[in-house]
Amino acid sequence: MPEHPRTHGPGPDGPGPAGQPFDRAAADAGAAGVGARQDARRRSAGALPPALLLDRVTCTFTSADGSSYTAMRDTTLTVAPGEFVSVVGPTGCGKSTLLNMAAGLLHPTAGVVSVFGEPLHGINRRAGYMFQGEALMPWRSALANVTAGLEFAGVPGAEAVARGQEWMRRVGLGGFENRYPHQMSGGMRKRTMLAQTLIRDPDLILMDEPFSALDIQTRQLMENEVLELWMASRKAVLFITHDLDEAISMSDRVVVLSAGPDTHPIGEFEIDIPRPRDVAEVRAHPRFIELHQAIWAVLRDEVLKGYERQRRA
Ligand SMILES: Nc1ncnc2c1ncn2[C@@H]1O[C@H](COP(=O)(O)OP(=O)(O)O)[C@@H](O)[C@H]1O
Ligand SMILES: [Mg+2]
Repeated sequence: MPEHPRTHGPGPDGPGPAGQPFDRAAADAGAAGVGARQDARRRSAGALPPALLLDRVTCTFTSADGSSYTAMRDTTLTVAPGEFVSVVGPTGCGKSTLLNMAAGLLHPTAGVVSVFGEPLHGINRRAGYMFQGEALMPWRSALANVTAGLEFAGVPGAEAVARGQEWMRRVGLGGFENRYPHQMSGGMRKRTMLAQTLIRDPDLILMDEPFSALDIQTRQLMENEVLELWMASRKAVLFITHDLDEAISMSDRVVVLSAGPDTHPIGEFEIDIPRPRDVAEVRAHPRFIELHQAIWAVLRDEVLKGYERQRRA
């Protein structure tokens, strides 16, 4: 199996020492010029600081018995304003760890997280975060869950309710405002979480495997809805998934992580498939198939390593 070059994404000043993996990606995908286009896009966006920059971050967890585990090592990753970036990697490799550092819930052991050019201290207030699991408050109605963030931010009640009702409609839940989480389907709960995340109009949206628990049809409906909402506002998105089809169909760029420990990016692919996209239909696009093969060639070994490690554990 080939050795994958270690990737450091570009810094805020434009293309960094990231040339080789892009070239490799382009060659794998049979698409000369992807790297060059990506560099051009980065140069033109160079005037603006990235919405998110993880600059050589390492995250080591230390247990009470003194043992330690380095979940992520020396990882650099950027999300440009308006860019939709997916991160894929095997289960347990450190995807949630990465997102938690971007959200400011977890502080890197080494390296720096910057948000729109400012080093992040504490919680990332520019970001909206959609968690991996179920994160609704069971004692609150759907509407009260959606408006919770506005309430905490001190938005007057009537305004919060009006904005909450508007967001319930936008995610297809008009009329279900008074349902409690236990009275809703999994898909409805995810829609509620989506409205809860987007109502604060965050400049950076962080999503951690948001739809992995849904059946495939519901999931594709929601993926299309997210894309539609994103096309309308073009906020920066960092989207975590273990599902390669989902990553390719939704993103501008896909970053592949190695299996842990010492997880780091091992490949980066620009998804040059035209938008708007329908996530179900795009899977038949010849470019989708090409990209899928190229990315899977990088991801496959890591998935096997991750599986083997979990089996041993
Ligand atoms: N708070 C923690 N303390 C110790 N180890 C942790 C902690 N959080 C995560 N880990 C470990 O770090 C690795 C990456 O975890 P995580 O980021 O949740 O993976 P993923 O989201 O890719 O499935 C796993 O091996 C996990 O057990
Ligand atoms: Mg996770």
